[in-house]
Amino acid sequence: MAYSDKVIDHYEHPRNVGGFDKGDDTVGTGMVGAPACGDVMKLQIKVNPATGLIEDARFKTYGCGSAIASSSLITEWVKGKSLDQATQIKNSQIAEELALPPVKIHCSILAEDAIKAAVDDYRQKHAKAAPSAAAAPSAQLAH
Ligand code: FES
Repeated sequence: MAYSDKVIDHYEHPRNVGGFDKGDDTVGTGMVGAPACGDVMKLQIKVNPATGLIEDARFKTYGCGSAIASSSLITEWVKGKSLDQATQIKNSQIAEELALPPVKIHCSILAEDAIKAAVDDYRQKHAKAAPSAAAAPSAQLAH
């Protein structure tokens, strides 16, 4: 299959590969897998507590070129965004930017799901920490 130039560029020069300390409370971690192909993507965001904006992002993807390119691209896109804005990124935008063929659309879905999972993780950490989280059932407090 022919990959687009943008996929090849991100695949050969992936942006933001790596990870942050999961225990850091400014970090949110999302880990998702694609059952169809077995590829796995871990995506992390680092949030500036003062502004609430995502100041950095990292990923590790064990997957195909399109999955690597999708995660590389989305880590670039989320920087400087609020959590709400980050969760509004659609896989179709990634697929369009990278010119993914239909058989590779699920690779971009992985990136959308991973960023949502990372934002959820960050929010859960902070729901726990916030004193007003009295409504949170104690079962969620155990990790
Ligand atoms: Fe499954 Fe790309 S082939 S993530």
